[in-house]
Amino acid sequence: MLASRNWGGYPFPNRIADRFSEKFARLHGAKYGLAVANGTVAIEIALKAIGIQPAEEVIVPAYTWEGTVAPILLLNAVPIFVDVDSDTYCLDAKLIEQAVTPRTRAILPVHLAMRFADMDAIMRIARAHNLSVIEDCAHAHGGKWHNKGAGATGDLGCFSFQSSKLMTSGEGGGVITSNLEYYERAQSYVNCGRASATDRFHHRLIGFNYRMTEFQAAILEAQLARLSRMAKTRQANMDYFEKRLRGTPGLDFLKRNSGHTRVAAYQYVFKYLPERFGGVPRAAFLGALDMEGIPCEGVFYEPVYRSALFPVKPAEFPALSWRRSEPLDLKMHYRCPVSERAAYEESVWLPHHIFLGSRKDTDDIADAVLKVCENIGELRGFNHPAIEIKMMSRSERPRIEKRQY
Ligand SMILES: Cc1ncc(COP(=O)(O)O)c(C=O)c1O
Repeated sequence: MLASRNWGGYPFPNRIADRFSEKFARLHGAKYGLAVANGTVAIEIALKAIGIQPAEEVIVPAYTWEGTVAPILLLNAVPIFVDVDSDTYCLDAKLIEQAVTPRTRAILPVHLAMRFADMDAIMRIARAHNLSVIEDCAHAHGGKWHNKGAGATGDLGCFSFQSSKLMTSGEGGGVITSNLEYYERAQSYVNCGRASATDRFHHRLIGFNYRMTEFQAAILEAQLARLSRMAKTRQANMDYFEKRLRGTPGLDFLKRNSGHTRVAAYQYVFKYLPERFGGVPRAAFLGALDMEGIPCEGVFYEPVYRSALFPVKPAEFPALSWRRSEPLDLKMHYRCPVSERAAYEESVWLPHHIFLGSRKDTDDIADAVLKVCENIGELRGFNHPAIEIKMMSRSERPRIEKRQY
């Protein structure tokens, strides 16, 4: 690749990026794939591909990374927050229908951490109301729903290859679909508005340069070859870890929808129930666990409407005011109790890479969790910088985050 002197994303689709995207799409059971600059623009591209119009509404889970939501606003469309299911921490399908309005255009479920949103229910609702479905699969490379790959059940699937993800090129993203018209529009949008390779639908739009470089694609090809082996190791260790923790009073575990036939865990997430530990807050548990050498987070995500990274002002996003007597105040309008409890009280996030070691390494992680649980009384009223850090959201401590990866 280096010697070829053909480093960029142009001519588009470039050689390795095209080969990688095709393999990646095939692995997930979609016809077409596109390698792009990152996961945030992957979502923007998918929204453009379905032809989203200003002021149309997109239903999103409240509990996710801000990058799921920002592209909706960027395209002058309107995100509508819906709470997550406490069993999975993914979009609660039971709450979607009450959020549908005549302006709803799409549902954007996120397969969060180690679980899938209930795609059967979501597709049923989407069909009934003629909505598109865009799956945010930033955490779900190689995961399956009814034995079909992540992103291939909805109209489009969006992936991230950012450093922390299950496959990474430092930065990077992917879009998959089986719909040629969407694929063509996505290609044009990524490649400065140029016609797509097939150009059957003759869509012309203002595009950007969102192409992936050949360097990134070459790295991802190598990663793709390792994905399934790494997933097996990770899953075996996570299963063993959960087995060791089950039955521990005060800990609870996420459940899996029956359609979720293969787990791809970006983070192992479980619940610490503070009321069962005499009110000792999660931050104390996490701080102690960190001091035992186990990387862990609590406020990994916040309900997006409460996040410091979501300073949305209606004046900057005109669609929030259109055809409304008052602008939609995205920061004040929503309260999603399950998302809030997950974010600020109970969720514990352990990064996937710590589960790539041996059984002994996994025992070390489980031993540390059990040790902190058994001695939780010592943490009552205790203060320590390690605990204070765990109370902050990740957006509040960029310097620490810089050291993380
Ligand atoms: C759920 C989710 N969606 C979207 C993104 C955006 O991906 P990227 O960081 O590659 O832009 C991320 C990545 O952090 C994510 O976790």
